[in-house]
Amino acid sequence: PPDSLVHAPVGVAVIGGTGFYSFLDEPQHVTVDTPYGAPSAAIAVGSVAGRRVAFLPRHGVHHEHPPHRINYRANLWALRSLGVRHVLAPCAVGGLRPEVAPGDVVVPDQLVDRTSGRIQTYVETGAVHLPFADPYCPRLSGTVAAADPRVRRGGTMVVVEGPRFSTRAESRHYADQGWTLVNMTGHPEAVLAREMRQCYTAIALVTDMDAGADTGSGVGQEEVFALFRANLERLKDLLTATIKDLPEPDGCTCTTWAQGLELTYEIPGGDR
Ligand code: ADE
Repeated sequence: PPDSLVHAPVGVAVIGGTGFYSFLDEPQHVTVDTPYGAPSAAIAVGSVAGRRVAFLPRHGVHHEHPPHRINYRANLWALRSLGVRHVLAPCAVGGLRPEVAPGDVVVPDQLVDRTSGRIQTYVETGAVHLPFADPYCPRLSGTVAAADPRVRRGGTMVVVEGPRFSTRAESRHYADQGWTLVNMTGHPEAVLAREMRQCYTAIALVTDMDAGADTGSGVGQEEVFALFRANLERLKDLLTATIKDLPEPDGCTCTTWAQGLELTYEIPGGDR
């Protein structure tokens, strides 16, 4: 790559989910240590559409980190320390309602936390209560939706603790609430990105219909991996198209809603 790309800050990151372990051609790998320990893997840095892009496989290169053991704080801190202001977060999800089907790509607009015991903040002290009414960056999710007309915009993603899948009763209950998608990694990733003042959006690939909508044996791991594999190229094309059209982070609500709050934790590389 040209020298200017190697030395430019890395503005955007993709955090790959289940079935998605590499994105960049000929990346450099950067090992980042953080106050919270090691991220899921070395961070791959390369270029896409003339921009420096980081890629981090959420579950590790060999899928060694299950959802409840991912070091989410280290992951977001490490990306921010490289300069990342935009985070695109593909993830595998179960569909809960008939509006969605396996193979659909959805950019949700709401999140429900049904995890337990995960550390979900960098705040250790002080009155630092960040707004999270809208958990995803509206500009960034709009850019993803605009990049491919097949992307469905909106919907609520409930994040469960896992690593088991949900029971039928749990799944029906989530659907009855009007929630659209179920996943195991969307929280606390989204809130930690907000604390890092990053623009963040989930990009959900529906891999199965969870247990409630199915008359069969419920969801299994194999179908999740297989569906993701089958749609990986399309997802990569969507990410590339999105990266081409990225909005400027400056002035976005994701970076300004915390103005006036005295942050008591470190944002590596500065807190704008
Ligand atoms: N990830 C992919 N499919 C899922 C499901 N049905 N439940 C929770 N997480 C998932």
